[in-house]
Amino acid sequence: MWGKREDMLVHEDSPYNAEPAGSALVEGEVTALDTFYCRNHGEIPDIPGEQWRLSVTGLVDHGQDFTLSDLESRFETHGLVATLQCAGNRRAGLIAVRDIPGEPWESGATSTAEWRGVRLSDVLEACGVHTARSLHVEFTAPDVADEATPPQQYGSSIPLSKALSDEVLLVWEMNSEPLPRVHGGPVRVVVPGYIGARSVKWITGINVQDHPSDNYFQTTAYHILPADADLHTARPGDGIPLSTVALNCDILDPSDGATVSSGPLTIRGYALAGDGRGIARVDVSLDGGHAWAQAELDAGQSPWHWRRWSLAVDAKPGPLTITARAWDTTAAVQPESAAQLWNPHGYVNNSWPTANLTVT
Ligand code: MTE
Repeated sequence: MWGKREDMLVHEDSPYNAEPAGSALVEGEVTALDTFYCRNHGEIPDIPGEQWRLSVTGLVDHGQDFTLSDLESRFETHGLVATLQCAGNRRAGLIAVRDIPGEPWESGATSTAEWRGVRLSDVLEACGVHTARSLHVEFTAPDVADEATPPQQYGSSIPLSKALSDEVLLVWEMNSEPLPRVHGGPVRVVVPGYIGARSVKWITGINVQDHPSDNYFQTTAYHILPADADLHTARPGDGIPLSTVALNCDILDPSDGATVSSGPLTIRGYALAGDGRGIARVDVSLDGGHAWAQAELDAGQSPWHWRRWSLAVDAKPGPLTITARAWDTTAAVQPESAAQLWNPHGYVNNSWPTANLTVT
């Protein structure tokens, strides 16, 4: 379905929501198109490239409509490798603490692609964007989400200061292919360093305004509510709105529950730092967090994509629990347990990942 590999863990067929297994995600620095996770809140629009229009409105001197060929011909194109991570990634670990309505995403709502398009800042500047520091840039899309009451088109916003950063792109290519429809083709925005929800797919409107978007996905969903809040009585604006992606890491291979042979074993995973920070270190423990060894980090230095890590160990027969934790360049470290982080929507589980293996 949607050109994805058959072993995707499919949470929902319609709209299509699916993630790859850790063993598939670990395969490349850039995630193959058939493996990249999909998170959709409504039915997937079908917009032919030649019919696509982007309308820029609001606090700009000259609002304009752009076609795809306008973007291609009027602005310099840029490529960027960036990781997207859904705020619901690893929700299954929070559900294990206490039940949460919502898909039990495992480790795979995280993927990395090479995106190509134009800088959002170039488009906004061509429209004469006003530059007061407190402004926000709202993105709108045509897909309709039933989880809002009443159902609402998907939308979201980011602060203007982020929108004017070089890394925020309007893209029509993913891994050198036309952006697949399921990933927002013909054109989406990519906001590296922010939760995936801000990278709006099938973008058709950009509005510069003096407040964050009033859309359900900005005011209500993607907020961290206090643990004792009731989802049924929570009001728009309650809780902490999410923007920057949290420091996180995961063990992708071997997977939790695997049986492996004794002897040399390479443990592999990824680490991702939040907006503009880097990964400084990944520690791995084989004894539940008493002693830690430092994993080897791959060479990637960009703050916008994951760093893959590995550690070679000698696995002895019997049960083996692997624990990992990442530190970022500000010396922040992941929190230890999912119970500390439990929240009613089940967002941002960045607790230490563990994998329980049997070594034979
Ligand atoms: N944009 C639109 N229009 N509709 C959506 O449902 N989902 C968001 C974001 N952009 C969404 C959207 C969420 S929650 C995430 S995590 C990312 O898209 C997922 O992007 P992907 O499906 O390309 O992996």
